[in-house]
Amino acid sequence: MSEKIKVAPSILSCDFANLKDEVKKIEKANADAIHIDIMDGHFVPNLTMGPKIVAAINRCTDLFLDVHLMMYNPFDYIEKFAEVGADLITFHFEATEDIEDTINYIKKCGKKVGLSLNPETSISLIAKYLNQLDLVLFMSVHPGFGGQKFIPSVIEKIELCKKFKDEMKLNFDIQVDGGINDKTSKKCLKAGANFLVSGEYLFSIDDMKKGIELLKTV
Ligand code: DX5
Ligand code: ZN
Repeated sequence: MSEKIKVAPSILSCDFANLKDEVKKIEKANADAIHIDIMDGHFVPNLTMGPKIVAAINRCTDLFLDVHLMMYNPFDYIEKFAEVGADLITFHFEATEDIEDTINYIKKCGKKVGLSLNPETSISLIAKYLNQLDLVLFMSVHPGFGGQKFIPSVIEKIELCKKFKDEMKLNFDIQVDGGINDKTSKKCLKAGANFLVSGEYLFSIDDMKKGIELLKTV
């Protein structure tokens, strides 16, 4: 069975002085979603956007908004991000004590729910939540910044996750984020990922549409 491969450009690598044009560029490139990185300066050593920017992006497009929360206490912000147009809200296993409550609250707000793992976090720690999730996000860099180098040890984690997914007959997305280019993408897809996030690679090439096609090529 071949699963639909999806690609979400990460808005973190865009030219924020031209946010609307950058969103239109992502639309024209036939992207499946826009990935939006929310960083709190505590869970990760960087600060990025808040709900107001997500609302602004939502006003420019009908594309699926994939909101990646890299913050402590994500529970407190779910309602806000849901209100401003997030379609999927992904939070970090390492940043949350009440995983179950957070999953349930995202669902209660009518949104898809994703759970993310840092490179050093084992997939077995979240096995019991897999049947409640729409997406598992594997960080293939240490979260906090775009433009970092892909960490190859994520491949084994993706393979194990795909094995769990097949054994349990589940159909959540397996997403990979960090250092994705036309070479690392192939390794991830082969291992069982079906949803790729890419920032620097897609924003640094002239033809984003071609870049997305290349990322989808196994
Ligand atoms: C990193 C972010 C990523 C980042 C990916 O912490 O979660 O979404 O924007 O950017 P690249 O593809 O440049 O590694
Ligand atoms: Zn991200």
